Amino acid sequence: MGAGLQDGKRDQSLPQTGRSLIEWIAGKGEVGGTGSGSQTWGHGDPMHRLSPIDQRPLAVVRSASTQDYRETLNQAVTAFKVWRMVPAPRRGEVVRQIGEVLRRNKKELAEIISLEVGKIQAEAEGEVQEMIDMADFAVGLSRMLYGVTMPSERPGHRMYEQWHPLGPVGVITAFNFPVAVWSWNAFIALVCGDTVIWKPSSKAALSAVAAMSLIWPVLKENDLPDGILNLVAGPGPSIGEAMIQDRRIPLISATGSVRMGRHVAAAVASRVGRTLLELGGNNAVVVCPSADLELAVKAIVFGAIGTAGQRCTTIRRVLVHAELFDTFCTRLVRSYREIRIGNPLNVGVHMGPLIDAEAVSTMQIALKQLRDQGGKVIYGGQALAGGIFDTGTYVTPCIAEARPDMPIVHVETFAPILYVIRFRTLEEAVAHLNAVSQGLSSAIFTNDMLEAEAFLSASGSDCGIANVNIGTSGAEIGGAFGGEKDTGGGREAGSDAWRAYMRRQTVTVNWSRKMPLAQGIELKLA
Ligand code: UN1
Repeated sequence: MGAGLQDGKRDQSLPQTGRSLIEWIAGKGEVGGTGSGSQTWGHGDPMHRLSPIDQRPLAVVRSASTQDYRETLNQAVTAFKVWRMVPAPRRGEVVRQIGEVLRRNKKELAEIISLEVGKIQAEAEGEVQEMIDMADFAVGLSRMLYGVTMPSERPGHRMYEQWHPLGPVGVITAFNFPVAVWSWNAFIALVCGDTVIWKPSSKAALSAVAAMSLIWPVLKENDLPDGILNLVAGPGPSIGEAMIQDRRIPLISATGSVRMGRHVAAAVASRVGRTLLELGGNNAVVVCPSADLELAVKAIVFGAIGTAGQRCTTIRRVLVHAELFDTFCTRLVRSYREIRIGNPLNVGVHMGPLIDAEAVSTMQIALKQLRDQGGKVIYGGQALAGGIFDTGTYVTPCIAEARPDMPIVHVETFAPILYVIRFRTLEEAVAHLNAVSQGLSSAIFTNDMLEAEAFLSASGSDCGIANVNIGTSGAEIGGAFGGEKDTGGGREAGSDAWRAYMRRQTVTVNWSRKMPLAQGIELKLA
């Protein structure tokens, strides 16, 4: 089969359950990274997927060539013409069935995620649960794509807005949420009547192949054509670039670094397309004197070391009132000492590896900069070695004392480094919180209602997400997810985020048998 892929032959045999999925991948050695519904193929370079857990080779994903991309996009364009005419509640029914498949295969898909990106099982299962929740949300939404009506100023006229499908939507995702972020976009796009072209991170391409292999059979069972959900795994410079330049893709939703987002935004804007950007975060938590310290520490530990500090919502900064600074640090270090680092598939392990050895060296460089800039490591921060740790991908999570003006504190280092910073007044804390260029998520721990309200007011947190007495990560899908400033301004998942995936049409119907003009204009014709 592997040789077949190299010859450009197509692999017809998609597995239908999670367990056989894992065996399918393991047994083949090579899978195609391109697909439109019933086959996978690939003519591009091989992507050797090694597990960051132990460097074991998982599979080779053959990336999409630019020709594969063109073929797939043609399918997506053709399928859109069919899919947009399927009634939205019927589209919702298909998404419901996708949700069912994910429910049945939650553990198995989660295992592949853990193997490929090193998430602990609980978090990997949480990620698949996020997809399931998203499917449920989208099913309801499929009957609620409401437009408004408005009174016309002219007699005998009716005005309203309707929402139509937009077209093929490009979804570019990062390694840290290999499948959930795609589902925030894809399930909404599906009920909105769009087709989807997915370019996953090359560091998580296998999870994407696995998810699509589970989901494509649902589309087949519903007698739908190929091209509704498409996968084009491959390098950013070829496949990503082709997508952002492609005028047939009216919306590009991209998750990743601010640098990548700036490039995508400029390229798509130059063809006057739409972007939905989900870029870096540099999320802070404010801990006030009235805070329940136990609660705060629990939330901060999970927020800082969850996904080994590689969430865009990871807590990177804690602003602690000077009065409780020492008590807080002592309490936090005590909890950090209990963190078990190891194989993320083992029960009881809290933190697995970083995505690769390069991420570990980026973390080490950040810590050196911190020291050079006058900061101090209070706990952890070492690259681990010996046994399973010889992969060079494991670290101890780090707590560091820092000042808000240090340049390193303004950088999103995608690793478990937590900067602890002192403040004296809430105004000062909010100023520090907002001083960074990113604006994704934020939180305050306080039992003082006035402080909480000030934090949530227009002069409080400037982030897309602001929480009281919970951490910055682990957002529920029901809310619109995203942030301001360098985070990109996009909103995905719940609330009214669906509007980005549709085109709005304002309709005026004249049923009066007269031709009155708006604004009272009278045209006197001879
Ligand atoms: C991301 O890191 O790109 O709020 C998304 C959270 C998750 C999603 C994070 N629901 O932490």
